Amino acid sequence: MERTSFPWVRELVRHKPIISPSLLAADFANLEREIRLAEEGGARVLHVDVMDGHFVPNISIGVPVVASIRKITRLPLDVHLMISDPDRYAEAFVKAGADSLLFHIEAVPEPAALIEKIRALGAAPGLVLNPGTPAGAVLPYARQIDILLTMSVQPGFGGQKFKPEVLEKVRAFKKAVRPDTLLSIDGGIGKWTIEEAARAGVDMFVAGTSVFDAVNYAQRINLLRSLALKPQREPEESK
Ligand code: DX5
Ligand code: ZN
Repeated sequence: MERTSFPWVRELVRHKPIISPSLLAADFANLEREIRLAEEGGARVLHVDVMDGHFVPNISIGVPVVASIRKITRLPLDVHLMISDPDRYAEAFVKAGADSLLFHIEAVPEPAALIEKIRALGAAPGLVLNPGTPAGAVLPYARQIDILLTMSVQPGFGGQKFKPEVLEKVRAFKKAVRPDTLLSIDGGIGKWTIEEAARAGVDMFVAGTSVFDAVNYAQRINLLRSLALKPQREPEESK
């Protein structure tokens, strides 16, 4: 398939660079308010982290919470599955309202069938790779997916330090994916790291603590987006 079939993905591609607030850093006791503030602050998508305490040493959001979030926002839900058996839960997450399902190559080393299953279920399929996993592990599938997410921290927890060495993989992905595939990055993205990631070719920036620790989410989202736009305004510096 040479062009994404998902209008919401095309919409995000049109508005690159995209800041994707990660709800892991939101106040879970006030999720509706947090989501509304992110939405009013200019977010065009929400990042939802699903952890099973097995693939990663932490437990977070599951199917019922995705279903509840779906009822209170129309924003696309970009669902990051940090779970050992994404195939088993794919249908439940799509039925709950996930717009994409991103799963890890470390969990599913032969991902072709699951990519197609997710697409058939009606969600945009994406692959994720950990900092220590080489680009070559996902490159054979680069043209089959709508989102390619490079982890810039070891998955499991928010608030970790950005690993700039992963940007080398992003540069390789830029040449390999379709023009309408979103190159995303997750972990340690904030005002000190986002420019460097943008320069490497990242389109969509997952930001947890840097958005939800801010006093004003709108200001922070705007600041991050304008920093991510800088390399486009100063093309000579990216050489
Ligand atoms: C980490 C999650 C991230 C997390 C990022 O395993 O996948 O989405 O929320 O948090 P920050 O932006 O704080 O590094
Ligand atoms: Zn994530």
